Amino acid sequence: MNVLNSGSRSASGYGVAAFGLVVLMALGFAACAKPAEQAAVPPPVDPVARGAYLVNISGCNDCHTPQRFGPTGLEPDMTRMLSGHPAELVLPEPPKLGEGPWIWTGTGTLTAYAGPWGLSYARNLTPDVETGIGAWTEEMFVQTIRNGKHMGTGRPLLPPMPWKWTAQMTDEDLKAVYAYLKSIPAVANQVPEPVPPPAP
Ligand code: HEC
Repeated sequence: MNVLNSGSRSASGYGVAAFGLVVLMALGFAACAKPAEQAAVPPPVDPVARGAYLVNISGCNDCHTPQRFGPTGLEPDMTRMLSGHPAELVLPEPPKLGEGPWIWTGTGTLTAYAGPWGLSYARNLTPDVETGIGAWTEEMFVQTIRNGKHMGTGRPLLPPMPWKWTAQMTDEDLKAVYAYLKSIPAVANQVPEPVPPPAP
């Protein structure tokens, strides 16, 4: 009995020691591992800032902001940023270009274009309610670019609006572009409606 008792005491002594070791190792690991709150968290994306970036690198200003001649040649008139073809620039008939290879022509503002599709004018993308996209919903804007249709479901968008390329943006990016456009200064400017080509 004595032997058994002492044996069992000794076994339980090892058990306590082993348990202590496991606890120490666990504490050691916990001390080495980074606490959860210090894990790298990506900065939240500000949709307006992201939209500004996308609009600037996608060249939207090249057509939607009227250009004028300045010291460095054609320069965007940023006082009318993204407000489309200036309403007061009423245009004469476009020149007749014949069979080609020159098949389209445009104004120095880079906002009006004449080609086999007729006449098209870069539109007002500012948040003006009457003449821009102020009354558009986010859904309308996304669908316009996705489907290449005015207000998402209307007439097909004409050249040179590069909607087949801009349609490839993610929904998140298109929503960011919309958020940015809604944040810029509204410019009241009624862009003329496009004119279909003359019947052959
Ligand atoms: C090469 C010139 C060009 C570029 C670059 C361009 N657009 Fe356009 N955009 C146009 C023209 C022209 C129209 C008008 C087409 C029409 O009336 O059918 C238009 C129409 C639109 C419309 C439709 C507006 C409406 O009332 O239906 C939206 C929205 C638009 N553009 C957004 C953009 C955005 C955003 C970018 C940049 C990512 C961009 N565009 C780049 C020329 C351009």
